[in-house]
Order: sequence, then C-alpha cells, then structure tokens
Amino acid sequence: MADRVRWGVLSTAKIGREKVLPAMQRSGRCEIVALASRDLAAARKVAGELGIPTAYGSYEELLADPAIEAAYNPLPNHLHVPWTIKALEAGKHVLCEKPIALTAEEATQLIAARERSGKLVAEAFMVRQNLQWIKAREIVRAGTLGEVRAIQTLFTYHLLDPGNVRNQADIGGGGLMDIGCYAIATARYIFGAEPTRVAALIDRDPTMGVDRLTSALMEFPGGRHLTFTTSTQLSPHQRVTIVGSKARLEILVPFNAPNQQPARIVLDDGRDLFGGGAVAEEFPVVDQYALQGDAFSRAVRGEQALEFPIEDAVQNMRVIDATFRAGASGQWETP
Ligand SMILES: NC(=O)c1ccc[n+]([C@@H]2O[C@H](COP(=O)([O-])OP(=O)(O)OC[C@H]3O[C@@H](n4cnc5c(N)ncnc54)[C@H](OP(=O)(O)O)[C@@H]3O)[C@@H](O)[C@H]2O)c1
Repeated sequence: MADRVRWGVLSTAKIGREKVLPAMQRSGRCEIVALASRDLAAARKVAGELGIPTAYGSYEELLADPAIEAAYNPLPNHLHVPWTIKALEAGKHVLCEKPIALTAEEATQLIAARERSGKLVAEAFMVRQNLQWIKAREIVRAGTLGEVRAIQTLFTYHLLDPGNVRNQADIGGGGLMDIGCYAIATARYIFGAEPTRVAALIDRDPTMGVDRLTSALMEFPGGRHLTFTTSTQLSPHQRVTIVGSKARLEILVPFNAPNQQPARIVLDDGRDLFGGGAVAEEFPVVDQYALQGDAFSRAVRGEQALEFPIEDAVQNMRVIDATFRAGASGQWETP
C-alpha cells in the first residue's frame, strides 16, 4: 500500500523480534523493509523468520539504503543517541527505544540533530498510545477522581542474567533506566506537569553494579506526589494507582498491556475497603506497539504532529538524572 511508511530496523533486539516488529507488520501504516545486525547471518535469520525482505550485516548499510524512510532503533541504551543521530543524518525519521539516552545532556544532542536533518525523532513510549492511559488521563482531567494528588507506581521483575543488557552498568543498565523511566513518564503524563524536586533510595547489585531496587518520591506543583518503586530482582508485578479526593483509579497492567485480551482499569470511590464500590472498565483489544508505529507513520506522512516531541524525552531524562543524583546524595535534587 502506498501510504505505508517503509521502515528499517537497527539490530535483532528481542523487543523488536518479539513485540514491536510483528505489531508494526500487522498495523495499517508500517512496512518493515529491512533489518540490520552486526552479524549478517543473524540479520538473515531474523529477517527470514519475520518475512522482512532485506537483511544487512551492518547498521551503516541499512542507513545507506534509500528505500528506507524511517528507522526503528532498539539498540542498548548507550547506543540510542549515537545511532539515532546517524540515522537522522542519513535522512531517516527515527523512532528510538526508551530511555532515550544515558543522560539528559546526551539526549539534548537530538534536538540539534532533528533541526539539522529536518526529520522526525521520538522516544518509543508505547504506553501513551494505549487507550487505557488516554482514558485514565481523561478521567483525571474530567475531575471524576476529585482533586488528584498522588500517584503510586510499582514495577518489578526478576532478572539475574549478567549477559542481559539490563544488568550491564556501563551501557545504561539497571531498573531506573529500564522501567523507572515509565513511572516518571506516566506521572508527568497524568499530572501534565514536571516534578520540582526528587528524593530517592537506590540499592545496587554488589557484583553487577546496576540499580536493582530504586524507590523515589517526587513533588509536582500543587502539592502532588509521585512515589514509585522499581526493581529488577523482585517478583514480577506492575500497577499504577492514581488517587484523588473522591476516588482512586488503578491501571492493572499499566506497561506491558496485553495484545490478546482487553486492558482493564478500576475506578473505586472507596466506600468499601474490600472493593465493593469498585467499577472496572475494559477496553477493546489493541496492540500498543502497532498503535505506536501507526502514529509515528502518520506523522511522517504529515497527517498529524507527534504528540510528544523529543523535548519530552529530554525532560524525562532530566528527571532520571535527578533521581540518580538524589540516590547518591541522599538530598532533594531538582530535575
Ligand atoms: N518499549 C518496550 O516495551 C521495550 C521493551 C524491552 C526493551 N526495550 C528497549 O529496547 C532496547 C533493547 O532491549 P532488548 O531487551 O530487546 O535488548 P537485546 O535483545 O539485548 O537487543 C539489543 C540488540 O542491540 C544490538 N547490539 C549492538 N551493540 C550491542 C552491545 N554492545 N551489546 C548488546 N547488544 C548490542 C544487538 O543486535 P545485533 O547483534 O543484531 O546487532 C542486540 O540484539 C533497550 O533500549 C530497552 O530499553 C523497550
């Protein structure tokens, strides 16, 4: 179809193979035309499995392919900014995985690269495309919860493999970068504001050096608070609770929302502490990665603007930076 954007993929990353690429292939506006790996055989294997017509043995070759309009960058975190800049300079639009960079200072380079190239660039926070989050923000804005003052977020999984990118401190591993970024991005999304100060406790794995348990407290204007805990070494769980003066909203699977069953949120006015007043809302089954690919592709075609420009990603990184500083200093830090 002519209005599909032609995408190329940088690497055989697991998230691409298993989630993002199949979703984009099923979507209406994306065509995956090529995939590159540092290893040509690996590229050929994954491209073959996914029905992607062209495989390249280097990222450079993919970026030199004039047929490709947009690049998807799911490289490890330390390669997000360098390869996103190379892709922009090669004339490609870029959708880059989260977290956008290692630091806000590094992320800022993307603003200049976007200006130089005239191409689009965005951070792949697919959750903000999901109807459950759009609806949660609508409910908050409509005042259904009363005055919303607190968000509490828990996001944990258990991963001890030292070979996983998440357990490599020198390439941007650790829980705050990998999943704390969601807690921060979604609180900023719901509050529609930036945190003014941050306190944090960070516990690191003694061998791998990555943060394995991070808890943070953030103040937002108007006396609103985010508290979150992320861990890479605790039993898997994820939940966001948004609390107002009249009611509370829970997003049951806030981040890895399923693509085969409806997402669910629960509204509870607290009249019965055992949930007697709780009302659940289910949403039509969607694939948030397909929605993300389509939204970016429509922006490439000039049909809509990107809802979250790269400045938003830089801002999220500033909050991550401040959280790391607060964990190290034991003091309040300002993003
Ligand atoms: N949005 C989401 O839901 C979501 C979920 C999971 C992960 N992510 C993000 O996606 C990115 C990749 O995560 P992943 O779990 O898919 O990682 P992964 O499976 O380890 O894939 C990373 C890929 O990068 C390439 N690479 C290049 N230099 C590398 C290096 N020095 N070390 C390791 N790999 C290198 C490798 O591909 P080749 O060998 O083929 O070149 C590798 O397969 C991360 O930024 C992560 O935060 C997002």
